[in-house]
Formats: sequence, C-alpha cells, structure tokens
Amino acid sequence: MARSLRWGLAMAVAAVGSGWAATAAQDQDRTVKDGVYSTEQAVRGRTNYETTCLRCHGADLSGGAGRSLTGDVFVRDWTGLTLDRLFERMQSMPPGASENLAGDAYVDIISYVLERNGYPAGAGELSLASLTSITVEGEDGPGVVPNYALVRVVGCLGGDASQWTLSNATAEERSPEPGPSVGDDLVAAQAKPLSDQNYVLMYVFPSPEAYAGHRVETKGLLIRDESGDGPDSLNVTSILSLAEACTP
Ligand code: HEC
Repeated sequence: MARSLRWGLAMAVAAVGSGWAATAAQDQDRTVKDGVYSTEQAVRGRTNYETTCLRCHGADLSGGAGRSLTGDVFVRDWTGLTLDRLFERMQSMPPGASENLAGDAYVDIISYVLERNGYPAGAGELSLASLTSITVEGEDGPGVVPNYALVRVVGCLGGDASQWTLSNATAEERSPEPGPSVGDDLVAAQAKPLSDQNYVLMYVFPSPEAYAGHRVETKGLLIRDESGDGPDSLNVTSILSLAEACTP
C-alpha cells in the first residue's frame, strides 16, 4: 500500500485535467504549430468565447477575473500536454456548471484560443477526436518543460531536515495534478526506471523523514537553477513513497 504526504502549495496552481501516463503513452505526432484548426472555426469560437467566457477571462484573454489563456501563462500551464487536457478543463467552465456548452463549442473555443496565441490556422477543422493526439508546444519545443510548471519526478529521497533532496531521479515530466498519482499514473510511476538527475526540494512540510531512503514520486513546481551549474529545485506539492528501498 503506497503511503503519501501532501503539502499545501506555496504558489497557486490550477489543477488541470488528469492522467499523466495517458498523455505520454499516446502517439503525439502533431503539435499546435501544425495548423490544426481552421480560420472559420476560430471565428465561431470567438462568438462562443465572447458570450460565455469573456466576462471573466477578458477581451484579450489575459485573465481578468479568470486565469490568463494567453502568453507565458498559457505556455506554462499547457506545454507538453495534449489538447484534451485543455478541453477537460474548459468543460468545467464557466465555474458552477450552470451554462455548460456542447463539446463542439469548446473545441471551437480552443481554436480561438490557439489563434490568439499566435498558432497558425490550417485547412482542416480541429475535431474532438483529434484532441488527444495534438500536443501544446511553446517556443522552446515540447521537450523543454517550462520554468514554474507543475512536474513529477521519481527518485531516491535523501538529505535531512536542513535540506531534502532527490537523487538518481528521472527527468521532470509535466503533471496535470499536484497530488500523488493514482490508478494508471501510479502504475506508470512505479515502473519508471531511475536515472541520474538531482533535485533540491523546497518547502517540504511536514517533514518527509519517514520516507528517507525510499523511492518516491515527488510533484512540485519546477524552479530552474539560474546559474546553470546546480541542480534544479522543486517547490513540493506532494511526495508519495513507492518503495522502502531505492536501488537505481
Ligand atoms: C465566472 C467567471 C468565469 C467564467 C465565465 C469562465 N471562467 Fe474560466 N476560469 C475562471 C477562473 C477564476 C479560473 C482560474 C481558477 C481555476 O482554475 O478554477 C479559470 C480558469 C480557466 C482555465 C484554466 C486555465 C489554466 O491555465 O489553468 C481555462 C482553460 C478556462 N478557465 C477557460 C474558460 C472558458 C473556455 C470559458 C467559457 C466557456 C470560461 N473559462 C469561463 C473563471 C471563469
């Protein structure tokens, strides 16, 4: 039985969609840069957006009473994830579920959001079925996890109360959820081969002492080391013990 501790967030994070393994397992041959929606579709999306979303997210999509759907925030929240995650998130919008739209209406809104983020239109329309095979990608490409993104890493918990660390860890991967993995995501975490990354863990409270030396899954916000020489840090949101031993 896996045990877990969960920490409050030191920074606000929107929990987006669910399921980390499903994303990784799919065939992701297209990205949002490949002209995945049509101009007409974005026009329809704009109408839906203005009727149902604008009052909170603003005419320029920059936030207002909601969260920004453009620029750095969009890239940070969605890069490396497939469009179905964005779709799932939109389905909970507007908050309160009083005015839920049809699925196609959200797909059109995604087209509009992509257009406003500068991604090119193409010949065909974006369809509900294609969302799982199209990945959001920022300027740096899909492989680079943006700074401050919510990530998950599997490694060996070391250090002590003055500084907790992860060693022999996997490279960071996007996580849509800040809490410990469950279901298929947990199975995927348990199966991950360890690697050679090191991370410094920040804001780990309460103490994870009971898991010292364990193989753990850690989630948190990625804080890149600015000097470029030292390990990156994780502003921890959850630690899950996967095994009492941690053999690379
Ligand atoms: C009543 C205000 C309100 C309305 C209307 C609303 N939103 Fe939101 N939306 C929010 C708030 C507040 C957040 C951020 C807090 C949260 O994550 O729940 C948010 C978050 C989001 C997110 C997550 C962004 C991210 O990067 O994590 C998306 C996507 C989104 N809204 C899309 C929409 C769409 C599409 C519509 C119209 C169909 C819509 N919203 C209508 C208030 C609103």
